[in-house]
This record gives sequence, C-alpha cells and structure tokens, in this order.
Amino acid sequence: MPVLDKIKKPIEKEMAEFEAYFGRTMRSDIPLLNIILNYILRRKGKQMRPLLVFLTAKLNGIISEPTFVAATFIELLHTASIVHDDVVDDAGERRGALSINALWNSKIAVLVGDYMLSKGMLISVEKNRYDMLEIVSEAVKSMSEGELLQLQKSRKLNITEKDYFRIILSKTAALIAACTACGARSVTDNSDTIQLMKEFGENIGVAFQIKDDLLDYEGTGLTGKAPGNDIKEKKITLPLIYALEQSSNSKKRNILNILRNKKKSKSEIAEVISFVSEYGGMAYAEIKMNQYRDKALAILDSYPDSNTRNSLKEFVFYTTARKK
Ligand code: IPE
Ligand code: IPE
Ligand code: MG
Ligand code: MG
Repeated sequence: MPVLDKIKKPIEKEMAEFEAYFGRTMRSDIPLLNIILNYILRRKGKQMRPLLVFLTAKLNGIISEPTFVAATFIELLHTASIVHDDVVDDAGERRGALSINALWNSKIAVLVGDYMLSKGMLISVEKNRYDMLEIVSEAVKSMSEGELLQLQKSRKLNITEKDYFRIILSKTAALIAACTACGARSVTDNSDTIQLMKEFGENIGVAFQIKDDLLDYEGTGLTGKAPGNDIKEKKITLPLIYALEQSSNSKKRNILNILRNKKKSKSEIAEVISFVSEYGGMAYAEIKMNQYRDKALAILDSYPDSNTRNSLKEFVFYTTARKK
C-alpha cells in the first residue's frame, strides 16, 4: 500500500468526504473559470494539508464540521498559492502537467488564484469560523512576505542561512502550522494545545520545504515539477547556501556568475548541481531537515500511543523521505 494511503487509514472516510466537499467549492458560472478549476481538480496534489488537519483534529478530540471547513479552505488557499507561485517562479510544470500560466497565461493564473483565495476565505466566514479565518489570514500574510523576501534576496544573490530559514518559515511553514493549529482548534479551545500543535506544524513545515528544495536538486522525476527550476530562477536554497560558504572566493564567483546569467544552459545547471553535491550541500540540508523532523516527532511523544499518533509519525517521516 502506498505510504500516504497507510497514513490516511484512521481518517479515510473523512478524506473521501473532504474530496467531495472540495470539488463542490471548485465550481463557477464563468465558463473559462470553470474549465480551469476543473483542470486543477483533475490533477490533484498529495493533499498533505487536509490530511494534517484531520489527523491533528483526531489526535486532540473528535472530528466535526469545523474540521472539514478548515481542511477545505486551507487546501483552497494552498492551491491558490501554487498557482500564483508558478507565475512568480516562471514555472512551466506543476503536478505533472503544464502550469496554469504556461497553458493559459499569467494574467489568467493571477485571477484564478485570487478567486480560489477569496473562495477559501468565504467558506470560513459563511461558517462563522472567524477564529480559523484569523489563524489562516496570518499565514497568508506570512506567505506573501516570505515570497517577497525571497525575490528580494534572489535579485542581490546575498542570502544567508538565517534569511533562508526566515523565508521558508514564512512562505511554507506558516500555512502548515495553520493546518495543525486549525485542526486542533476545530476540536478544542485549549490555547496551550493549539499553540503546541502550531509548533508541531511549524517544524513539519520547515522540514517539508527543505525537502522540496532538495528534490529540486535530486530530480527524482516524480515531483511533477521541472528540476533545476530554483537554479534557473536564481533561487538560492539551503544546499547551495552551504556549498557557497564552503568554497573559495573564486569558485563562489564562478557559480554566482552562472546564476546571474538569464539564459542558463543545461550543462551550467548541471555544473551548479555537482558543485553543491561536491561541497556537501545536500548532506548538510538533510541534517538540518532531520533536526526539524525530530522536533516534530518529540512533540508527538507527549501524546499517548494511538493509531492517529502513529499515522502522524509516519506523516512526519514521509515529509522528509518522499520522492515527490
Ligand atoms: C508545493 O506543495 C508547494 C510548497 C510549499 C513546496 P505540495 O508539494 O504539497 O504540493 P501538492 O499539493 O502536493 O501539489
Ligand atoms: C513554495 O516554494 C512556495 C509557496 C507555495 C508559497 P517553491 O517555489 O519551492 O514551491 P514549488 O517547488 O514551486 O512547489
Ligand atoms: Mg515555485
Ligand atoms: Mg520548490
């Protein structure tokens, strides 16, 4: 059985219900919008965020309607964010198919992303879950800040490890922390529990993005995204930050010159990848990633043994071991 299916076991029924609910929100009377929403729906992602919402809810109480509300609107916001992100990153592929900006164009992708974003927000308003709206709006604000800080750093190529962690905490971990915080919030109003679950999600989120950045170098062929896009886009992530720190000034200059080039050849991208691996950049990023994985696991250890806790443990391991 695929790992994700095994992880899903304790909340299989809820995930099926979620999918139907999610599908119903992805509809519109505007024909063009409807075509694009359908295109997105047919190529579903890993759905790790709703999965995390349900599992954290179940870990802390009894899943009920507010849990579905949170899972749906967070997946909508996530989907909006990747549609926008592909415009920002000039990415041509997503989920094994052409990105919205590649198949239609950037204007359309921006507007479709906005549509999903507002639809997500509206669900929480309609259901009167202003508490969750607040948690998630904070995360969405962080995501924009993170993406902008990343853009600023890629223009100057002066990113430090500290900047990197700030960026990924904002652009990725914030929304994953919102999953675990809302999951808990949907079943309890104990603020200590919600805070602990938020920290749990933050650690998963940081590990998750380090893994995403490693996958861009590894090129497993399974991510449904073109590998090397980060290098192409002058996006300096942890493996490269570390390798640059370890190298001589002249080597560093040589690599930064490749990055600066607008048009990079395949062999130049390959040169950066082998530079990173030669200087131990990937191995270093893996060590860092595993530190966050272990912090997340330690939080789970404060809970009694259960199927749900086991699934969450598997989820954390999957985050750092996945090939896509
Ligand atoms: C991609 O997230 C965006 C990042 C934060 C790296 P996922 O890898 O969860 O994307 P899907 O939903 O499975 O396609
Ligand atoms: C994720 O960063 C950013 C957000 C989704 C906000 P990436 O740019 O690395 O994500 P991918 O690799 O395109 O999915
Ligand atoms: Mg991207
Ligand atoms: Mg990426």
